[in-house]
Parts: sequence; structure tokens; C-alpha cells
Amino acid sequence: MVYLAELRMQHGDRLRVHIDDENLSLDVVELIDEIAADPRRESAELYMCGPIRLMDAVRRYWATCQLPVYNLRYETFGNSGWFEPESFLVRIPRLGIETTVGTHTTILEALTEAGADMMFDCRKGECGLCQVDIKEVDGVIDHRDVFLSEKQQSAGTKLCTCVSRAVSHSAAKARGIPAPAVDGDGDLVGVPAATRPILTIDIP
Ligand code: FES
Repeated sequence: MVYLAELRMQHGDRLRVHIDDENLSLDVVELIDEIAADPRRESAELYMCGPIRLMDAVRRYWATCQLPVYNLRYETFGNSGWFEPESFLVRIPRLGIETTVGTHTTILEALTEAGADMMFDCRKGECGLCQVDIKEVDGVIDHRDVFLSEKQQSAGTKLCTCVSRAVSHSAAKARGIPAPAVDGDGDLVGVPAATRPILTIDIP
């Protein structure tokens, strides 16, 4: 939006601006249908950046329309996850560590604080250095990294502790529901600890 005036000058009528607050949301299907119906469809390139759900919707519909995969260009800076962050327990039985990961804390931070010797570098879900083995999860993993492939993520055996989280089964069912109230420590208010997601891992 900072460059709007400049973009208007450069592109005139060809510039389309979608602003949710002004009821001008981007319709992904409409946009990609338009590209798919264009005679230049094989050479049309789409560049995108944004939240994971938007990028995933574009990627999926781009594939549905059988547009050339190499013409869809995007860069990710980690992702904001599929679910609202929840407080959960993380355990490393081999080291006798069990700690709470608050809504504003990462697994990496919580484990480091609890005395685990963690490896990490980017802290953005890009390098994979902080990945650990998942031993058990009572809940669902919200993979937020861009290091593991979709196949590796769905295998559910590794996760990147600097960005990824665990969420409860109920949150996973109702994707997108707001996070429950939390206290100053990031703990769920009025929710017994036993109902929180529990993630059991081991570190290299
Ligand atoms: S520190 Fe790089 S992916 Fe976590």
C-alpha cells in the first residue's frame, strides 16, 4: 500500500487493488480462472506472497487449472500456521524435561529455557537445524516451517521447533477458531492441563 500511488502511475487501469476492509477481497478462483481462460495462459506468471492459507489456495487452484507449475512464483518467510496458537505441553522423556509452550513462545524457546541443548540457526523455519523427532502427539501438529516437504510434514515424524506447534484435536476440527483465553504466562484459562495437546519428542 505504501507504493500504491507509484504503482497507479506505472500501471494505470491495469492495476487492481483488493482490500478486505473495503469489501474488495481477492477471489482466488476468479483470478486464476481468468488466467486459465486467457490465450497466453502457458506464459502467464503469477507472483505471490502472503499468509499460508492464501498461498495454499492459490497453489491448489493453480494445479487444478493445470497451469504450468514453474509460472507460479512465490517466496515464503516461514508461515503463520493453519491454526491459532494454543498452549501445550512438550516433553523429552530421555532428558526428564517437561515444559509448557505458551501461545507467544516457541517450542525452541521453551525447551532452551527448560535446559535442553537445542541446535538452531534461522529461527524462521527455513534451515531445518532445529528439527526434532516426534515420538508421540496427543493433538495435531501445525507445521509452520518451509524446510520440510509436504510429504515429510504429513509423515509426522519430524518438526521444526522454532516455528511449528501442537494444537488440540478440537481446534484442528474447527480450523480457524479463535484461541481460548490465556493468562499472563500464556496458559489456558479454565482449561485443565490434561486437555491440552501434549507433544513428546527427542532431540539429536
Ligand atoms: S532454526 Fe532454522 S528451521 Fe528452526
